[in-house]
Amino acid sequence: MINSFLENIDECPTSHHVVNKATLLLQHNGFTHVAVNSTFTTEHLKHGFVSNGGTIIAWKNADSIAARGIRIVGAHTDSPGLHVKPNPDTHTLNWQQLQIEVYGGPLLNSWLDRDLAIAGHVVLRDGRTLLFSSHQPVARIPQLAIHLDREVNDKGLVLNRHQHLTPIWATTSVAGSFESWLAQQVSVSPSQIASWSAQLVDTQKAQIFGRNSEFIASSRIDNQISCWAALSSLLEVDTDQPMMIALFDHEEVGSQSAHGAGGPMLEHVLERLSVAAESSRSDYLVSLQKSHCVSADNAHAVHPNYVDRHEMNNAPFVNQGVVIKTNVNQRYATTPKSLVPIIHAATTAGVNLQSFSSRNNIACGSTIGPITATRIGIEIVDIGVPQLSMHSIREMCGTTDPVDLVALLSAYFSRL
Ligand code: CO
Repeated sequence: MINSFLENIDECPTSHHVVNKATLLLQHNGFTHVAVNSTFTTEHLKHGFVSNGGTIIAWKNADSIAARGIRIVGAHTDSPGLHVKPNPDTHTLNWQQLQIEVYGGPLLNSWLDRDLAIAGHVVLRDGRTLLFSSHQPVARIPQLAIHLDREVNDKGLVLNRHQHLTPIWATTSVAGSFESWLAQQVSVSPSQIASWSAQLVDTQKAQIFGRNSEFIASSRIDNQISCWAALSSLLEVDTDQPMMIALFDHEEVGSQSAHGAGGPMLEHVLERLSVAAESSRSDYLVSLQKSHCVSADNAHAVHPNYVDRHEMNNAPFVNQGVVIKTNVNQRYATTPKSLVPIIHAATTAGVNLQSFSSRNNIACGSTIGPITATRIGIEIVDIGVPQLSMHSIREMCGTTDPVDLVALLSAYFSRL
């Protein structure tokens, strides 16, 4: 089963590719794609989905939300990294380089000396959007040789994010702008391109490793593993319970966008489904109070070389189960009450639960959980797969925890 995740992640270099891959899988399984600008009807209630940019929301059995409420699994499709700026072409001596912008909070050092491809999407003047990936490495950010930076190993690597992260991708003997290269990638003429988004991506494929093949190394484990688990569970469960997955873009930059969890997309979809089911506004608001949401995003596993960074009573281990994340300052949305459905699901699925709480002197991250709870006012629990190297270009997690997450979410959706 885990091999399907490895294939999936290699096919999805960007959030838009995640949505495209999910679209194909959903359509293959009989879900109807509802255009975001069209009216939901009763035919859409049983199996449907909407997408916009790097965000996709899919549901099953929405015809009985008013009576039963709905169970939602949320996750995020984006990962931190380096994006190509507008007008990126720049020259230094005889090097051709690309101006980049840092997206979110990547571990910058991990991007050095990597064989980088470029992937993204192009919007044409006729309104079509075309995804692309060069697959082949075309760029590199070379680290300065140790002979020219003698103290780096003892004093630490300090990267000026404007000066030191500019990738090289040609010498000046090569003609043509970035946009002309981009036009070739999607087989159009440069004059057909209205706009584009492009980012650097590692070409190294996802890999299982370890003495007993018990670990996964890959880009974008945070948080495509949760997207994969959410979608797998939605497709796997065959009950008449209302269920939904909401996979959001822009979490790594704070979720404040039209398609991010801070935007209105989820509540609009829920309300439009309610209208299609001919429920009243009152029924809709009551149904939210019968509903529950899981926010699935990865957690910090205990790092054996930095045990002092963890709070050992609440430090999860890789391959020992799914992590419940709590924070009294509401960086995670988990409450004593919101935990109950996931405890029941874990018992049903036979999945071990671990807990994460950060040290008081190290601020923890946050997730779409508190943002979604604030927007739509439903009970949410924050959970996730434990991992190391979070926000590195090459992260790692265990091979059994993701499978446990699928089993847990399937039991959660089934309400067994
Ligand atoms: Co994340």
